[in-house]
Amino acid sequence: MGDGGFQMNVQATLLSAAILLLAGCRSEPQPMTTPSSDRAFGKTPEGVEVRLYTLRNAHGMRATITNFGGIVTSLVVPDRAGRPGDIVLGFDSLEGYLRGSPYFGAIVGRYANRIAGARFTLEGTSHRLAANDHGNALHGGVRGFDKVVWDAIPFADSTRSGLRLHQVSADGEEGYPGRLDVTVTYEVTDANELRITYHATTDKATVLNLSHHGYFNLAGRAAPDILGHELLLAADRYTPVDASLIPTGEIASVDGTPFDFRTATPIGDRIDADDRQLRYGKGYDHNFVVLGTPGTLRLAARVRDPESGRTMEVLTTEPGIQFYSGNFLDGTLVGKGGATYGHRAGLCLETQHFPDSPHHAAFPTTLLRPGQAFRSETIYRFAAQ
Ligand code: GLA
Repeated sequence: MGDGGFQMNVQATLLSAAILLLAGCRSEPQPMTTPSSDRAFGKTPEGVEVRLYTLRNAHGMRATITNFGGIVTSLVVPDRAGRPGDIVLGFDSLEGYLRGSPYFGAIVGRYANRIAGARFTLEGTSHRLAANDHGNALHGGVRGFDKVVWDAIPFADSTRSGLRLHQVSADGEEGYPGRLDVTVTYEVTDANELRITYHATTDKATVLNLSHHGYFNLAGRAAPDILGHELLLAADRYTPVDASLIPTGEIASVDGTPFDFRTATPIGDRIDADDRQLRYGKGYDHNFVVLGTPGTLRLAARVRDPESGRTMEVLTTEPGIQFYSGNFLDGTLVGKGGATYGHRAGLCLETQHFPDSPHHAAFPTTLLRPGQAFRSETIYRFAAQ
């Protein structure tokens, strides 16, 4: 090849590089993810139409989410052989969720987890909340965020496929003060993540604790329970509870207890140990203090199912994570594809503020004032090995 040919090659290469560069800078990048799709999912008893949105990435991960309660109804992730499997518990139809669901896959709020006695005092005013759990308030009350029809806007760009959910919770709803403007955004990213971001503002001082209540079984529908899953929790400490699962206020070390998951341990190894805390929870149902600085995204948990090879990492900006081992599931709920959800069929890793924080000045504050913005982020990241 002569010099001229070499030069022409260089010119051609430069030209194609320039074209690629220009393509990369276009205002609408080429989608790598498949844009989300949606379809009808039924109507609430009040006649409000509810939809089902599917977010996908380029690696076979797929999340199906309804704007009723922001519920993730299915989450499909490939196993180590590349076989897809739905790794969350739930129902096939909207009726299943309306009939009574233990918060399967839902957004929970205004206050995820419990507030003792369903009341709290804020700046001298006492507030009476809806009591729905042995005299305590659980997961926002009788009609919490898990039962609200959210406004939904799907979106997609080069690296993610998303769904933005928005609602305004009226001043006094379920007893909580302040008109709360809330946005929860779900994204499925090309890094095999389900990313959830929360944003809220209020017009009166209030308390707020938002979480996602997915029940995971990384084996897909193959395994009856999660006792063989190996769990790591990035926590030296947890908040012990009383018999009604209200924190005592103590922040205890996990050292030498069945709550030490600092090295990955099968969940079933110690779940039936002779331990008062485990008796109160009928298994694990406790808040762990996530290591590191609240407000920064850091690893809180890692779960692995040795059979399928699927792993899930949970990263969060929240101060705590509730590990609930599905102890109240008793086989009476028939879920997707006719599956019976028996004792400990799924596990929850609910990133959150500590339960009952309004009654514990030593816990990180859940107070939100007018002019402040509540922001929070949690990532469930999947792989298979
Ligand atoms: C949370 C609570 C549990 C239980 C479930 C829903 O995880 O901590 O005690 O109420 O929700 O059944």
